Amino acid sequence: MATTTYTVGLPSDERWLESIAWGPTGVEHGPSPIANTGRTPYLTAADGAPVEYVPFGLRPFTGADLVLDQEVFWRFDGADEATPTTLRLAFADDLTGLRAVLCYQVSPATDVLLRWVELTNGGPDELRVNQVDSAGFSVPVDTAELTFLTGRWAHEFQREQVVLPAGRFEIGSSQGVPGHQFVPWLAVQDTAGGPAWGVSLAWSGSWRIAADVEITGALRVRAGRAGSAIRLAPGETLVAPQVAGAYSTEGLDGVARAFHAHERELAGSRLDRVRPVQYNSWEATEFAVEEESQLALARIAADLGAELFVVDDGWFDGRHDDTTGLGDWTPDPAAFPNGFAAFIEQVKALGLGFGLWVEPEAVSPKSRLYRDHPDWVYRIDGRPGTLIRNQLLLDLGREDVFEFVRTMFDRLLTDYPIDYVKWDMNRPPTPRGRPGEPSADLDGDHVRNYWRLLDHLRETYPDVLIEGCAGGGGRVELATIARTDVVWPSDNTAPMDRLNIQYGFLHAHAPHVMSSWVTDHPGFFDTRPKSLRFRFVTAMAGVLGIGADIRHWSPEQRAEAAAHVALYKSIRSTVHHGEVHLIGAPGDPSCAAQYSHGSRTVVLAWQTGDLDGTPALPGRQSRFPLRALDPLATYRDGDGAEYSGAHLLHAGLPITFTPTHDADVVVLDRLP
Ligand code: GLA
Repeated sequence: MATTTYTVGLPSDERWLESIAWGPTGVEHGPSPIANTGRTPYLTAADGAPVEYVPFGLRPFTGADLVLDQEVFWRFDGADEATPTTLRLAFADDLTGLRAVLCYQVSPATDVLLRWVELTNGGPDELRVNQVDSAGFSVPVDTAELTFLTGRWAHEFQREQVVLPAGRFEIGSSQGVPGHQFVPWLAVQDTAGGPAWGVSLAWSGSWRIAADVEITGALRVRAGRAGSAIRLAPGETLVAPQVAGAYSTEGLDGVARAFHAHERELAGSRLDRVRPVQYNSWEATEFAVEEESQLALARIAADLGAELFVVDDGWFDGRHDDTTGLGDWTPDPAAFPNGFAAFIEQVKALGLGFGLWVEPEAVSPKSRLYRDHPDWVYRIDGRPGTLIRNQLLLDLGREDVFEFVRTMFDRLLTDYPIDYVKWDMNRPPTPRGRPGEPSADLDGDHVRNYWRLLDHLRETYPDVLIEGCAGGGGRVELATIARTDVVWPSDNTAPMDRLNIQYGFLHAHAPHVMSSWVTDHPGFFDTRPKSLRFRFVTAMAGVLGIGADIRHWSPEQRAEAAAHVALYKSIRSTVHHGEVHLIGAPGDPSCAAQYSHGSRTVVLAWQTGDLDGTPALPGRQSRFPLRALDPLATYRDGDGAEYSGAHLLHAGLPITFTPTHDADVVVLDRLP
């Protein structure tokens, strides 16, 4: 890894692997800070050991990573692979025939380690896996402070912290998607502060992350899939999802930067694709989508400098509200009387790319699809279906449903010149059954085909950008991020609410994936009105879009908006490629986000609390101490003001807020 070492060791009895050290390179030279140096009265040795990954059986009392319906005791079975970036260590149990390969993969360019496990049933009988974590991480803290992201619809990514002196802390989802309630991400620090460790899961289904205070006082974090038992037939292999672990001497902010670097790596060459400024018409027209109003919006959007026009829900046959139409993915001929292709052509003639919303996994009871294939939804024979948002969910794990969705995408993307797809998912599956297959791995099947479809889109239509969405931020995790270009963190687009959501989001995920629109929505939680500038600066913190009903914006507002869009275009490469430092939090009187890339630093700053009464009363400018600059260098802002690095680091970047100037963008260039 770039600056981190993760060291494991095999004790002489070779029954399990132990964590030795996880920290800055070199930390492994010396006695392990995580080893149990005492006895384990009343317990087994494994119960007190910093085990890497053990089955229930071997570690019966203090938490195991793998639970079958019978106890498993295994022994080291050799290294399947050991290269500078990968390690695959096998453990085998003679009695059940189970073979587990503990997999490790690192990137020399980041401080992120990937871990997962592969289980093969080498025995004659089916094995029942009741719980399979992907990895366990031992963290050498004395008293753990856990940071997690929680919330609900329209209130995702709220950062919370809890001190765990003893016992277990657990978060997760049983919704078949990561869900709005918790993000599959957790960070750990000692209450004394200092370095931080983080884990982030790459799994688009149900999951859990548990943190246990071990009997040694250290903390052990386990992460993996959740849900019903998985059957493993003889000869079958189960590959658990990857979990990313990150360490940073720079605390939570540093862990965030490590995960950002990992997500930039996941994007590969697609990182260099400019994420266009989109206009999305959802908040303006909701289900009342028709050619005239969409074109009116598109014309204004083009004038504002937007690069992409996205038609959201409501464009397809029969979709007049949320009770109908899902599944019938053909453009509504009444809404587009001149044809959908001609409509798209007109949008494109404005110089805009064209994007379309779909919810491929969903079906309305009132749809042709449901009439023709009532058996395609998750269901239990003899039980009524449960409607959520008036819709049902397709059993995407079925091969015929997968084929239907693939064909639907192929048809849309070949019939129309679509540049951008917003893939939504607005309900979890319940009741969750597939008649005739009572022991199918429904969650695993669904996720596998969701990934296959995203991979198909990437491979077959590499120029099409994909936005991941699930009723806002219901499916934001590393596996989706690896297969999409941006994700939609929340349906809440109000200024202060959004700033809070984005603050939490950036702890776990990178700005180049964070889609954000400027709207006129007042919000639900902190409804203090904020200026257009504030709303634009907020959306500039990630991938800027506009979602307001811009038909109602005055000429002055439109002119101001166009200037903000132009400014954003000049800073977006720094925002999307830069190292992020979060300065303060939205709960403070003011806060900022610093993005540094090469010789350029962009600071986005928001006045989030009370003003100080200046100039009528005595007061001082707000100051934002920047980070990671060269104290001896000189930096010049866009107005020509020059600051030493030492000043910016220690006195801080000065910004004057007024009632109308409640946010700012400062671009600093380091002088050669
Ligand atoms: C979900 C999405 C929104 C919008 C609506 C359309 O709520 O999160 O952005 O697309 O569906 O129905």
